[in-house]
Amino acid sequence: MVGQAVAALAAEDEAVLASVRFGRRFYPGADVARVAAQAYGAFAQAGRASLYPGLPSPQSVATMTRDLISASLALFGAPADGIAIPTSGGTESAILVARAALRRTRSRRSGASDGPAEVIAPWSAHPCIDKAAELLGFKLIRTPLGADLTADLAAMAAAITPRTAMLYASFPSYPFGLPDDVAALSDLAVEHDLWLHVDASMGGYLAPFLRLNGEAVPDFDFALPGVSSIAADLHKHGYGAKGVAMLLVRSPACAPDLDFTFADFPLPPMKTSTLAGTAAGAPLAAAWAVFQYLGVKGYCALAARLSASRRAFVEAIGSVPGFCVLGEPLFSIVSFATERGEAHDLVDALIARDWFVLPTHGPAGVQMNLSLTDGDLAPRLAEDLRAWAERLS
Ligand SMILES: Cc1ncc(COP(=O)(O)O)c(C=O)c1O
Repeated sequence: MVGQAVAALAAEDEAVLASVRFGRRFYPGADVARVAAQAYGAFAQAGRASLYPGLPSPQSVATMTRDLISASLALFGAPADGIAIPTSGGTESAILVARAALRRTRSRRSGASDGPAEVIAPWSAHPCIDKAAELLGFKLIRTPLGADLTADLAAMAAAITPRTAMLYASFPSYPFGLPDDVAALSDLAVEHDLWLHVDASMGGYLAPFLRLNGEAVPDFDFALPGVSSIAADLHKHGYGAKGVAMLLVRSPACAPDLDFTFADFPLPPMKTSTLAGTAAGAPLAAAWAVFQYLGVKGYCALAARLSASRRAFVEAIGSVPGFCVLGEPLFSIVSFATERGEAHDLVDALIARDWFVLPTHGPAGVQMNLSLTDGDLAPRLAEDLRAWAERLS
């Protein structure tokens, strides 16, 4: 009975997703989804790690966690003693890293300045860092973008004060899919001895594989000396089930700043590094299984498919007079603008044609997050853009 109800609800979703283009967020195809679902189901009741190490408890999720951590540290060029924490997504990673940066800054610069700590982020940064600011009580300073719609280095440098605890970069940004110049920000961070966090929630698990495929991907990882931490989401282009990401930190000295430990209550001291106390094991197991299933070869193949699709969409949009892609997108997000009419009208028209798109402003445009399963629809988009523009003229 319950099984039928679940199947019916899932079938309803399937019907919607089958008709919406780009509606399947980070869906890698039925084979990978099956691998994830099987592992998810097998560990549906599992927690992530014992809150009381030393007590007898199953070790499977801990083993999978260690595997994913070491693979991720290697993928992002972390030093041998780098550390990583699995989180539930990009938002949790941003909150945890901001907390650690604030604690570290506080302990290193005590008494250096009055007023709340500050974090400097380009205007295109994901609002997860604003959520962190609200929760942790720091001041978020959003600086204007440069003409290329990425972080304006001069504006970020000018915003640095003695209260600055962290610089924030996106790789790439969610609105435009364009990477900030992490190499230049790394230099800035080194110059001012500041924590630089790279939010690679979107591009983290894509970039290394694009690079292996021979694509020119700018530097963004721990090879840059000023990069202190990286957030990368396994539930995006790691193609795991929703609810798992990785926060990686260069220096092991930061471990105490990432942890939460509490001893003054009637049980042994409790230590957790995630926002949740009991963190779900199932998404981690699913991500581990997908990692094993795809391997480097599989991820490279999916990255190549995505790139082919991105190039097709970029070309299709550019082929319609009056439309232009914003910047040179490298990942799954392609945003574009039009001089043929109001962008928000275009977004409404595209949604009415079953495209899952978002409006951007500053500049006004359309944001698409390409889905692997809709890779061959570029000519269809060009047709819809042309039809919309013709109706206006
Ligand atoms: C750049 C970036 N950072 C953070 C996030 C937030 O991630 P999550 O929804 O997993 O919390 C997103 C989500 O799209 C993102 O694109």
